[in-house]
Amino acid sequence: MSFDNSFRLGAADVFPPAERHVYLDAASVGLSHKGGAAAISRWQNALAEEGTIAFDEQAEVECLDNLNTAAAGLFNADPDGIAIASSETVLMQSLAWAVMPAKGRRVLATNNTHPSTIYPWKRVCDHTGAELTWMRADSSLTIDVDALEDMIDDDTAVVVLSHVEWGSGQVYELARFADAAHRHGALLVVDATQSAGQVPIDVTTGVDAVATSTYKWLCGPFGTGMMYVAPALQQLNPGILGWRSHKDMWDFQPDRLELPDTAKRYEFGTMAYGTAYGAYESVRHILDTGVDRIAAHNRRIADHLIDGLKGLGAEILGPEDKAHRSAIVAARFPGRNSREFAQTLKEANVIASLRRDFIRFSPHYYNNIDDIDQGLAAISAHL
Ligand SMILES: Cc1ncc(COP(=O)(O)O)c(C=O)c1O
Repeated sequence: MSFDNSFRLGAADVFPPAERHVYLDAASVGLSHKGGAAAISRWQNALAEEGTIAFDEQAEVECLDNLNTAAAGLFNADPDGIAIASSETVLMQSLAWAVMPAKGRRVLATNNTHPSTIYPWKRVCDHTGAELTWMRADSSLTIDVDALEDMIDDDTAVVVLSHVEWGSGQVYELARFADAAHRHGALLVVDATQSAGQVPIDVTTGVDAVATSTYKWLCGPFGTGMMYVAPALQQLNPGILGWRSHKDMWDFQPDRLELPDTAKRYEFGTMAYGTAYGAYESVRHILDTGVDRIAAHNRRIADHLIDGLKGLGAEILGPEDKAHRSAIVAARFPGRNSREFAQTLKEANVIASLRRDFIRFSPHYYNNIDDIDQGLAAISAHL
């Protein structure tokens, strides 16, 4: 079957900048869904014009409901398992304090993990004396998943993984690590900030918690985070509390706190609520498009990119095996300084990120094969 090289799965009228730039930077910040950006402005303008006439008490109770439902769809979760707040980090931090692994227990992570995935757990380990243990990557930033699984033992309290690693793009099989963690009585806690929107996530595989921000592969705004927690974690005492933590947030009796019986207990205060309306639009678009279709589209364009980069002599980081790869493609160009080269590419309108000593390309569903060919032509011209 032939493939139309100009086909964008996320249409250009929803993502107009996709036609102006070779934008290969979703792992940093995804292009914003146009309808989502408009929804945020509408909310903000209504607030500016009319204050609580436009956004009353009832609206403040209900303003996260649509995003809650969309997040449940994204994770294949029960809506009672979803909490919304202002970022992945705050939700992860609140969860880490709730779980609070004790002295003598271990938290296992990879040394490729994003700081925001693991610093919240480090803070709690520093407090309790629990030990943070690391599975280390090889020189191509690849984690040996068999060795990672072997590190899970009966002292492990929590396995904390980025579903997709921010640098190498390595993808972990969540069902496998949920099983392995549970065999040893540990939890599997997942940061999906680099996977939600590009790789399917199904919490019925046994994952205990999944948290994500919305401004990368979900093409939503900064300022919104979503978390799923399994029923057992819906009974814990969250690390962050505030007036929204009460099951009736308008109760206003500071000497009594009744937490909701759901994941909503991890919602604690005001946030830039308009971002939740924007995130709803973008997550809805991802769901309507289909994460499976997005994954297949992104696989095709990322493979084309990898083949082209290899043809130009680049070193590709991360696993060789395509089953463990996402649309994040990290490369070094022998003889070229990555910092200078990333800048040169930006001036040629090829937008990617310098990270450490490599350049990270991250095409998404609004890209097409023609974008990749333009990017490769610019790389070739400036090598
Ligand atoms: C895996 C991962 N988690 C978290 C973050 C950032 O978290 P937050 O949006 O809470 O600042 C990033 C940002 O690059 C990331 O790659």
